[in-house]
Amino acid sequence: MQIVRSVTRMQKLALKLKKQGKTIALVPTMGALHKGHLELVARAFRMADITVVSIFVNPTQFAPHEDFSRYPRNLALDCKLLRPLGVDIVFHPQPQDIYPTGFDTYVVPEKIATILDGESRPSHFKGVDTVVLKLFNIVQPDFAVFGRKDLQQSVVIKQMVKDLNVPVKIVVAPTVRDADGLALSSRNAYLSVDARRRALVISRSLFAARQLVLSGERNTAKIRNFVRRQLVKDAKADVDYVSVADAETLAELRRISGKIAISLACRIDGVRLIDNVVLKVG
Ligand code: PAF
Repeated sequence: MQIVRSVTRMQKLALKLKKQGKTIALVPTMGALHKGHLELVARAFRMADITVVSIFVNPTQFAPHEDFSRYPRNLALDCKLLRPLGVDIVFHPQPQDIYPTGFDTYVVPEKIATILDGESRPSHFKGVDTVVLKLFNIVQPDFAVFGRKDLQQSVVIKQMVKDLNVPVKIVVAPTVRDADGLALSSRNAYLSVDARRRALVISRSLFAARQLVLSGERNTAKIRNFVRRQLVKDAKADVDYVSVADAETLAELRRISGKIAISLACRIDGVRLIDNVVLKVG
């Protein structure tokens, strides 16, 4: 497994591999890897000749008050987890290499970035789209694998790829959870024992909402209220949003039909967590 730190070197290497007819699968990450990331890597490994994992804590997707500086970073541990999975290249650029002095061009998603997470994190998806397109241009992947836990992120990236004719197939892999239901996230490390216990209400309320839909409930307002009540009462959470939306467009629904996503974002003791369930209603 090679660790490549230089943008120019990574791009040259990728172009050389492509010339040799190799396919490349990329798993973009910010490091602090957990089992969820490792599932994405295993998926990438099965899809292409060369597996690249990028590890880069992207400053432009964090607002000034957010956790950029304290975001967990441990390259040695991440590499230790990746090596047994057959990863060919870890791409670990430095911020000044990705955003050199004079950097002045961003990818700005429009409507899709103003709802849900975009409402409480207004420039977040601009930072995500910008870095992801840069990673695509540097690594030249045929496939890129993202986790469904970040559902809106995957929708925003698919839209960018479609709108800008980027020749990459976006693959979205299921959310990985701890045995007690908590969706794996690098930010779970910020939770105290008590906050983690209360955070279990997140998946529990989503699973219960899914059950309500499967039992015939079609009124989306009832489902949103049902989830919100549990988050406030049982988890003492500050709720950013509870959404029942079309799973492909994330447009809010009044009545349930088709493939839907029930998603939420809330803060537990100041730690912002997101989660969702996706289901098809006949
Ligand atoms: O999901 C993440 O870890 C990040 O948003 C991503 C896609 C690596 C872009 O920085």
